[in-house]
Amino acid sequence: MKNYKLSTRLFSEIFWKTIFGNTDSESHTRKELLEEINTLNKLRLKAEYNTGSISFAGSWSLYSLIKYFEPSKIVEVGTFIGKSTWSMAKALDELQNISTIYTCDSSNDLTIPWKGRTEIKQFKKTTSTSMLNQISDKIDFLFLDGRINQEDTSILSNLLHSNSIIVMDDFEGMEKGVANLFALRRMELLKNHFLIYPCKQNYLYKLGFSSHSLTAVLIPTTLIELSRQDTV
Ligand SMILES: C[S@@+](CC[C@H](N)C(=O)[O-])C[C@H]1O[C@@H](n2cnc3c(N)ncnc32)[C@H](O)[C@@H]1O
Repeated sequence: MKNYKLSTRLFSEIFWKTIFGNTDSESHTRKELLEEINTLNKLRLKAEYNTGSISFAGSWSLYSLIKYFEPSKIVEVGTFIGKSTWSMAKALDELQNISTIYTCDSSNDLTIPWKGRTEIKQFKKTTSTSMLNQISDKIDFLFLDGRINQEDTSILSNLLHSNSIIVMDDFEGMEKGVANLFALRRMELLKNHFLIYPCKQNYLYKLGFSSHSLTAVLIPTTLIELSRQDTV
């Protein structure tokens, strides 16, 4: 007898259909999120290091992932103008869970003008290594939009748990998302995590996005369940 096998490519397509299917009815929130994160562009004027921010498709991917998995301890590397932080915080507020986002940026000290219920603990002008050394709680959801340092993986080995989800932006070619994956793959704790490629552009177009997403996910196989019917 042979096993039934599902490839990363096919699984990724099903994954994003399920994740976006769960927030399909939230067109009003989607519009609102786009307006809100666009207001953050003005922070660029005060940035010491003015760089790229996530696309709206990436922002909605993060929002939808949080809505689906409902993590409570979230850590982000790479705050910059806070579009990604805001997207995750908005999803947590919608869930009405009491949650905290820890976020750091090594080269910027911009303040995200967030007024919601979710606590955002900003580590300004702080490296990922320094922030991670100050965290003691276990991390449910790690979002990497900066390049992690070599020392970070050993700190993360103690902060992540077997069901932690890791999300990497800029996952293409030789960009930082791919470099981060190589660094994380050395961790014993993540050896059973399954890689999800970013959502394909033609599917995003179908959903009405004009931007693309470079958001990849490492999901523990223990969080994957076969079910008799769609649960969305
Ligand atoms: C692409 S931007 C982040 C965009 C942000 N997520 C957003 O939505 O606006 C990357 C930021 O990560 C920061 N960064 C890169 N590597 C880092 C590290 N190891 N620790 C802390 N910050 C880092 C950079 O200074 C830069 O501001």
